[in-house]
Amino acid sequence: MTQNLKPLKIAGVGYCVPETVVTNDDLTKLYDTSDEWIYSRTGIKERHLVSGNEGAVDLGEKAAKQALEKSKINPENVDLIIAASSAPPKLYPAIACQIQDRLGIPNHVPAFDITAACSGLIYGLSIAKAYISSGMYKTILIVATDNNSRLLDWEDRSTSILFGDGAGAMVVTESDDGVDDIIAIDIKADGTLGNLIELPLSGQNCPLVEPCENHKQYIVMNGKEVYKFVARVLPQYVEDLISNADMKAEDIDYLIPHQANLRIIHAVQERLGYSDDKVVTNIKYYGNTSAASIPIALAEGVEKGNVKLGSTAILCGFGAGMTWGGAIVRLREGIC
Ligand code: COA
Repeated sequence: MTQNLKPLKIAGVGYCVPETVVTNDDLTKLYDTSDEWIYSRTGIKERHLVSGNEGAVDLGEKAAKQALEKSKINPENVDLIIAASSAPPKLYPAIACQIQDRLGIPNHVPAFDITAACSGLIYGLSIAKAYISSGMYKTILIVATDNNSRLLDWEDRSTSILFGDGAGAMVVTESDDGVDDIIAIDIKADGTLGNLIELPLSGQNCPLVEPCENHKQYIVMNGKEVYKFVARVLPQYVEDLISNADMKAEDIDYLIPHQANLRIIHAVQERLGYSDDKVVTNIKYYGNTSAASIPIALAEGVEKGNVKLGSTAILCGFGAGMTWGGAIVRLREGIC
């Protein structure tokens, strides 16, 4: 039996980063490090961090508003909200529910969070694709937002140098012209590598029973092993994604990767044989903003004129889990 799958349109993309900037030189006030060490290993010069009571929901709200404006869709017409965050500031209510409240999206619309760390946007997009294809929902808001800086051990110089805060959002709808903006999408996970990046949520057992181990509630990462794993897996994965879609690297205009480490981005770039103008990087100014990094790179790339719309792009990301994923997408005029 053939199914009548509905095509998906990427209708709007938005982003938001906090105003406060912390440079590599600033970090030398916290521990023994240098701009040269950080920049040469990661490509990062500075990052935007939340300050005061600002948090992932505030950033996500602004990014979502921008994406809705670009898509010319009113909040009343959203019929599903998916939020992706590496570590929501509250496990409940979900970020998605809080954004529903703030944007005035009707109070019967379903809203939930997903945890796929830095692959969150791609995971969210794949869920949205399944819902839209099946006809179950027509207009979905995906918000990817993270305030990593509150979850770092600021005495751990090998991890805290890497992350920044930010949010990105995408509005996707059922396409009205028959064209599907998702040319290909794929997600993966390997739970055997879960110990490479962890953020334990601690707590106490009932005082009447044997106490449990107490963990620090910080991001704990084996950076070297993460690097080795991703540098080995990601370039081949991206190449396979393209060939499984019966395409060639040269058929795609841009690579918009998760911004975790410039050397990893260069490894993928090299495999695809892309010149610098085809690869979107902003890690220098934002660090690793987790789930938000791909939509920030896309929307900011368009804003700066580095990404021309009416084009195609390959998005790819990886993160704790380990999770990873990729999508080949059409970028229509006017989406950001
Ligand atoms: N400044 C100066 N020295 C530092 C430092 C810092 N900020 N952080 C670590 N060092 C030191 C270490 O203590 C170590 O010293 P030692 O040799 O005397 O023990 C030395 O630098 C090398 O440390 P190492 O951890 O082996 O460095 P590295 O070359 O692997 O680089 C990362 C570390 C984290 C930059 C790199 O592994 C990385 O980017 N990994 C990927 C992580 C990632 O992308 N995570 C997010 C996934 S979504």
